Amino acid sequence: MHFIVTGGAGFIGSHLVEQLLAEGHNVTVVDNLVTGSLNNLPESPYLKLVSQNIADCKPQDFTQPIDGIAHLAATPSVTESWLNPLEAHHNNLSTLLSVLLLCKDLNIPRLVLASSAAVYGNPISVPISEEHPTSPISPYGLQKLVCEQYATLFAKQFGLSFVGLRLFNVFGPRQQPNSPYSGVISIFISAAQQGLPITIYGDGTQTRDFIYVKDVANAFSKALTHPMEPGSSLTCNIGTGTSISLIQLLNIVKDLFPEWQSEPQFSSPRPGDIQDSRSDILKAINNLGFTPKWSVQSGLKSLMNFP
Ligand code: UD1
Repeated sequence: MHFIVTGGAGFIGSHLVEQLLAEGHNVTVVDNLVTGSLNNLPESPYLKLVSQNIADCKPQDFTQPIDGIAHLAATPSVTESWLNPLEAHHNNLSTLLSVLLLCKDLNIPRLVLASSAAVYGNPISVPISEEHPTSPISPYGLQKLVCEQYATLFAKQFGLSFVGLRLFNVFGPRQQPNSPYSGVISIFISAAQQGLPITIYGDGTQTRDFIYVKDVANAFSKALTHPMEPGSSLTCNIGTGTSISLIQLLNIVKDLFPEWQSEPQFSSPRPGDIQDSRSDILKAINNLGFTPKWSVQSGLKSLMNFP
């Protein structure tokens, strides 16, 4: 099969590209290389790169039939969505509309969107199933929610099938640690590798559902290929269904870096920080045949041995 991966040179996208190639598919990456990097992409005769915004692509740019689009190109930062809401709106929502129009014009039968647990806002209770009320507390969360709604509407109208994957806390190789708003695991690992101190915002009892990026790539692959009725839509949580606290995470990292002696500094919680997050993944298990295979420990070991 032939799939487009937007944002395919980025953190999650590049792992999906590797997975699809390993499964024997042809892949076209569409990436403007602003945050993505060519270094993230493997050499393969079955891989093609279009280095521009998917929103600027025309139907005639694609000559081979396309079996599906995995849309991961976005401004994925909650903070950025508050600092520059108009730009984030354009990159997250308007671009999704361009992708939907491309699906319509090229009769692309399947769209899979990287959505986010941010659509739930501050959870009332955990585990969070897809039935949990959606109440975003950031422009980013709202944009992802409206993306899902737009895609569901267009899927019904134009006969494509749509899967929205609500990602929980993804970690793994190629996640950039160099911003305070990067994933906490990449920040802790980078500090441990350099012998630097870390800061815990709040008391460290907050819990998160950390999912290894290779499990996420697998979920996307299943969502691209799983049989679905034309016009139908599915929205699934993608997490592990388990969670750990930041203190537990820190202890796991300390076990992996016994020479790292630094004690954490504690600081006030970040504005908008939620206390607990844990996915209910029954829907993904039942509808996509998705089961996570990596734990935080096994994922971290793999991350440390990554070339
Ligand atoms: C995550 C997502 C975000 C999504 C949100 C939905 C990531 C990187 N971000 O945010 O896109 O909108 O879930 O609920 O996956 N922390 C520290 N010290 C640090 C860095 C972080 O204590 O140096 C704390 C944070 O305050 C937070 C926890 O670690 O309590 C996790 O932070 P982070 O990895 O940034 O993810 P979320 O805030 O859960």
